[in-house]
Amino acid sequence: MYYEPQYSHARMLLVKVLLVISILDDTYDAYGTFEELELLTEAFERWDLNAMEQFPKDYMKLVFQFVYNIYNGFAKEMTELGKPYAAKFAKDRVMDLIRSYYTEAKWYKAKYVPTFEEYMVNARITGVAQILTTSLLGMEEIMEVKPFKQIIQAPNKAIRACEIIGRIMDDVVSHEEEQARGHVASGVECYMKDYNMSREEVVQIFNKMVEDAWKELNEEFLIKSRPGDDDLPKAVLKRVLNLARVVDALYKVIDGYTYSAKLIKGDIISTYTQPIPL
Ligand SMILES: *[C@@H]1O[C@H](CO)[C@@H](O)[C@H](O)[C@H]1NC(C)=O
Repeated sequence: MYYEPQYSHARMLLVKVLLVISILDDTYDAYGTFEELELLTEAFERWDLNAMEQFPKDYMKLVFQFVYNIYNGFAKEMTELGKPYAAKFAKDRVMDLIRSYYTEAKWYKAKYVPTFEEYMVNARITGVAQILTTSLLGMEEIMEVKPFKQIIQAPNKAIRACEIIGRIMDDVVSHEEEQARGHVASGVECYMKDYNMSREEVVQIFNKMVEDAWKELNEEFLIKSRPGDDDLPKAVLKRVLNLARVVDALYKVIDGYTYSAKLIKGDIISTYTQPIPL
């Protein structure tokens, strides 16, 4: 997403954000019981280390402290960099994320299958927007809050396309395994229920959605690169495109993020540790 040398700060933020997302995702999706998640969510809402006294299990303290420390670290860093607005901004984003994971946990507990539309509204918060906005805080050319607000409140075509690519590709490769281990309905199940379609039919439709989203994203990137009031700065738009590329590399064949040893490990080794002989 940020391969250029000058973006090392953004890269570090991105790694931290991805760690937080992975830990929260695993906790809310798989590990925690509903009662534990309720307490954990309340503690996050209070944003106070004393809230940990209520926790019945030690792992909850680890999760809470980890997220708390990372975001308080961001706040300190951003204030030092002269972007005080960004401190609150980052924390608001992680709270959005926690609340939408909690919504999914409630759906799962109630065995509720949302409509596809409902699912996508919630899923939007758990995915691309979160990764993008928080890591952008590390870009030097982003010194004002406008691009972040734009991504969250008024996503343009490129952002929406990237969100579809991220959510739908992930759902297509991971839904069967997730359903087998007990997981909230993915977009595939929601769509099946809405339209009374088979899994195979929905997967076909989803693949087409991803293809169309790529056309939109490419179009935005190629045609709308001229400056305009509502457009995101080109440097930001480039991250949107790169994030969609990352998603494509991760989820094209299998859920490469979950089963990292099968695919991604080899790619990383060949990219970073094995020089290409010249
Ligand atoms: C759903 O599709 C199946 C198979 O095509 C059909 O038998 C069934 O009546 C449909 N259900 C509804 C609610 O339309």
